[in-house]
Amino acid sequence: MQQRQLGPFSVSAIGLGCMNICHAYGTPISQEEAGRVLLAALDAGVTHFDTAALYGFGVSETLVGQFLSRHRSQFTLASKCGMTGVPNEQGVKVRVIDGRPATIKATCEEALQRLRTDVIDLYYLHRWDKKVPIEDSVGALADLVREGKIRSIGLSEVSAATLRRAHAVHPIAALQTEYSLWSRNAEIAVLAACKELGVSFVAFSPVARGFLCGAPLDVTAFDAKDIRRAMPRFSPENYAKNQALLPAYHAIAAEVGCTPAQLALAWLLHQGPHILPIVGTRSADHLKDGLGALSVQLPASVLAQLDALINSQTVHGDRYNAQANSEVDTEVF
Ligand SMILES: NC(=O)c1ccc[n+]([C@@H]2O[C@H](COP(=O)([O-])OP(=O)(O)OC[C@H]3O[C@@H](n4cnc5c(N)ncnc54)[C@H](OP(=O)(O)O)[C@@H]3O)[C@@H](O)[C@H]2O)c1
Repeated sequence: MQQRQLGPFSVSAIGLGCMNICHAYGTPISQEEAGRVLLAALDAGVTHFDTAALYGFGVSETLVGQFLSRHRSQFTLASKCGMTGVPNEQGVKVRVIDGRPATIKATCEEALQRLRTDVIDLYYLHRWDKKVPIEDSVGALADLVREGKIRSIGLSEVSAATLRRAHAVHPIAALQTEYSLWSRNAEIAVLAACKELGVSFVAFSPVARGFLCGAPLDVTAFDAKDIRRAMPRFSPENYAKNQALLPAYHAIAAEVGCTPAQLALAWLLHQGPHILPIVGTRSADHLKDGLGALSVQLPASVLAQLDALINSQTVHGDRYNAQANSEVDTEVF
């Protein structure tokens, strides 16, 4: 398995996103099926597992702990704090962004229990809580490093400016942000800032949440809880226009001799050695397919064809709706 550097850790060049084993897209899978995907990933040589307190409000971390803790020395464990499920007045858990130092430390304690480990290798602030100076949230994470509860610090969906402020408080090992052919915001400033500061860039939603995989999706049949329902690009109106890009995209994949998902991942791997995609899937077969991207070589002419076909000008609809957009740090992306 090809390796890339994730902060101080050498890990498989493609990691597994563990949101999908309990949350987000399509029909939910059973605990046993989740365990099969996690162990298949480990068997295939994946050594970078990405989870968060948010995913299933603790369920993803619990499943990772349940199935992988006995293999703990074989992989790099990344999780996230700063966005969790908090009971509302009716006792129903709702998503809350809270980057206060005390909350970060309490979330870490709970995560260590759920993950059945005594240290998390890479702990991200999932969203910058704009009510709390980034220096204070990163200061709390630096305390956790000193206490030996986490080994390194990451940030998610922050601007280059915020990354620099955070990096001045404590070295940032990794920045995680959406990046794929159809989500190019990171190209404005964040990718260059990561390269300059020696920060690994973890690309989430690398296969465009299913858009760049195989047959077009039926966006009118999404499950009631599917998070793509709230994403403008997947609205029936925008998706119909976006879908028109797929025949040419599939033709390029056929010409290269790879699958569409492999093409999306290979394009990312070719953007720079500091970029590490994490693919999300509920299927061991889909994971195996994605890992095939590691042997796909794309000549400059194909990279140029892909860049011209799918980019911020040719894609219809924002990646997030207004609420979710207000939660990310887009000041100087
Ligand atoms: N930091 C953040 O704010 C943030 C936000 C979102 C996600 N993430 C992380 O990034 C990870 C990956 O992102 P993501 O899941 O949003 O997007 P993604 O990996 O781009 O797409 C996942 C979707 O693509 C499908 N898929 C994946 N590989 C496939 C293949 N080879 N063939 C056919 N379909 C395939 C999956 O369906 P199947 O399940 O059927 O395979 C799923 O519907 C998450 O698990 C999570 O860890 C982080």
